[in-house]
Amino acid sequence: MGDQKNSISRDKPETGDATKSQSQTMWGGRFGGGPSAVMQEINASIDFDKRLYRQDIAGSKAHARMLAGAGILTADDAAKIEAGLTQIAGEIEAGEMVFDPALEDIHMHIEARLRELVGDAGARLHTARSRNDQVATDFRLWTRAAIDQLDGLYAGLQNALLNAAETYAGSIMPGFTHLQTAQPVTLGHHLMAYFEMVSRDRSRLADCRMRLNENPLGAAALAGTSFPIDRHKTSAELGFDKPMANSLDAVSARDFALEFLSVLSIGAVHLSRLADEFVLWATSAFGFLKLSDAFSTGSSIMPQKRNPDAAELVRAKVGRIMGAHTGLMVVMKGLPLAYSKDMQEDKAPVFQAVDDFELCLVAMTGMLEDFHPNTEAMKKAAGLGYSTATDLADWLVRALNLPFRDAHHATGAIVKYAEDNSLELSDVPLTEMQKIEPKITNDVFSVLSVEASVASRTSYGGTAPDNVRAAIKVARLELLNEK
Ligand code: ARG
Repeated sequence: MGDQKNSISRDKPETGDATKSQSQTMWGGRFGGGPSAVMQEINASIDFDKRLYRQDIAGSKAHARMLAGAGILTADDAAKIEAGLTQIAGEIEAGEMVFDPALEDIHMHIEARLRELVGDAGARLHTARSRNDQVATDFRLWTRAAIDQLDGLYAGLQNALLNAAETYAGSIMPGFTHLQTAQPVTLGHHLMAYFEMVSRDRSRLADCRMRLNENPLGAAALAGTSFPIDRHKTSAELGFDKPMANSLDAVSARDFALEFLSVLSIGAVHLSRLADEFVLWATSAFGFLKLSDAFSTGSSIMPQKRNPDAAELVRAKVGRIMGAHTGLMVVMKGLPLAYSKDMQEDKAPVFQAVDDFELCLVAMTGMLEDFHPNTEAMKKAAGLGYSTATDLADWLVRALNLPFRDAHHATGAIVKYAEDNSLELSDVPLTEMQKIEPKITNDVFSVLSVEASVASRTSYGGTAPDNVRAAIKVARLELLNEK
């Protein structure tokens, strides 16, 4: 074996102790030597937190304006800072910023570049601020934007669900419990169940947004500041409802991220259930639907295969998203107040979960816009498994005034006769039914078809096609009124 010195393979060459690093020009007044290469590597977050640059610049601009308004900075310095920050945003967007782990994170990168551009004015920006309140502010702003972005995609998914539900409002399929045929339902009704879940997911997102929308900026390192800052002003400017009330809480709270990840986890669970049904329905055993070419792949060995990979991956992504939630819960558990560097590990799971979730929403929407149910096969399957047995029992209650338990028992006996004689319920001769329940009349056959079954389910929230159409109408109006 080769060099065993280092058991972990590293793709970066080790260097000895660095001389004073770039970041130390920010905090290294009391340091002699520089950090080791490993220290630099474990400390740096720039690889992922560069995604916060927009929020960091917005937060810094608001801070600078507020400082000038309070007479802590001159108007001239504030103007220089603002112009410099605008230029830096352009540079980052153009891909011109060189990211250097020695500068640790996005906050230091932007500040260092600002000092290059506007000198002393840039060096005054950090007055009455710490990276602790800065990063908390940036991350809240980022998460808020992510919520808004995901909510827009959710609306698209709901629209796709409504369109498909409308098309298939009268298409009969088996409804299952225990994945055993239970009672006939319509595909429109089934899809509207997901619409409802997604509505709740969106309202959970909105709740989370409401709670996170408070401003940590101005809490400084942990205790607040002796400068006469105006936290209400930066709050208004950054679109926060108000400043966070406690400076210790402001810099150490990450429950907004935990709540967000838990909301995404629940949302991902819902998407995975729908995805799983697509996978199941696309099997040749079910034969309920064909996924479009756009959302299927072939097999490299079995030429006949058509695999629902997109649905499978949506089903699987929930693992990563829940993992992000669990991971951050564990990072936060037991952390003393206020800021600890542990909390730098908050961003990667949130970024990853948002990326995964976004992809799931887009893929699921695409599949719904482009799926082809085999409505004939669904309807045929709906009639299997004595799915209208409950309708028979209900008829015995309604027409013969039997107590439901007796009706249930008599129906069970009729189902057994049908099964023993390989008959559908509607093919059991009346005379045979009368051997079990003498008062049964010919009228019973009117409730045994799947069409009659679904049409009769008119109770509020039931599967009758007219109900489903009415529910779609209400939902569509709600969706339209959001805009
Ligand atoms: N990169 C850091 C983070 O994301 C910024 C805050 C650093 N604060 C500090 N006191 N070292 O948590």
